[in-house]
Amino acid sequence: MRKPLVAGNWKMNLLVADAVKLVEGLKPLVREVSGVDIVVCPTFAALYAVGQALKGSNVKLGGQNCYVKESGAFTGEISPQMLLDVGCTWTIVGHSERRQYFKESDAFLNEKLKFALASGLKVMFCIGETLEERQGGKMNDVLTRQVTEGLKGLSETDFDKVAVAYEPVWAIGTGVTATPEQAEEAHAFVRGLMKAQFGGNVSDAVRIQYGGSVKADNARELMVKPNVDGALVGGASLKADGFAAIVKGAI
Ligand code: PGA
Repeated sequence: MRKPLVAGNWKMNLLVADAVKLVEGLKPLVREVSGVDIVVCPTFAALYAVGQALKGSNVKLGGQNCYVKESGAFTGEISPQMLLDVGCTWTIVGHSERRQYFKESDAFLNEKLKFALASGLKVMFCIGETLEERQGGKMNDVLTRQVTEGLKGLSETDFDKVAVAYEPVWAIGTGVTATPEQAEEAHAFVRGLMKAQFGGNVSDAVRIQYGGSVKADNARELMVKPNVDGALVGGASLKADGFAAIVKGAI
């Protein structure tokens, strides 16, 4: 059995006081939850304060992104070491907004993934097709490229620390969720790719989260699918009760 992983990606939202308030509200709601890995990914500015607020709780801290160097003259970037320093155990790499708005390529994301892992972080590695790609019948090609290039060079043991997040771009922030059947089909396809590239041990064990307009009322029907091992949640992770309900939907 794969342990579900439910993460909140807060994106560029919440000032520090509101971020702390959110996790103070969340902690008691999920205190009794076991059997689910729970992560929140605040803005960089709020990481330290949220990390302090999460001390001793079952909610882990993650970054939304990181760079491929430990330190130096890279204005505006943050290193995995800095994320670890403020209490992160996870980071997201390759979110579609990074790919789309910041032109992050498969090769660069592969470098980021490897550097984050080598630095000691666990990584949620995002993949997913756009609406145009899906409608053009290119979904499988796109996912194949993102998995093949993005995960290139990883070894079996790395996958203790990597989860893959399937996030169809057309479902992110749009209110349009993939149906549980669409999600399951894509997840099964991705798991097959993992099997071909890394073997059965990895493909059996790797967690594949679904992301894209996950809410309290659709979370369970998605996560009950055999190949859906949790969720990466944007908008609905900004409210403690809604996010806690999604977490509980994974059990
Ligand atoms: P959404 O975002 O839940 O707001 O659609 C998901 C994501 O981008 O991770």
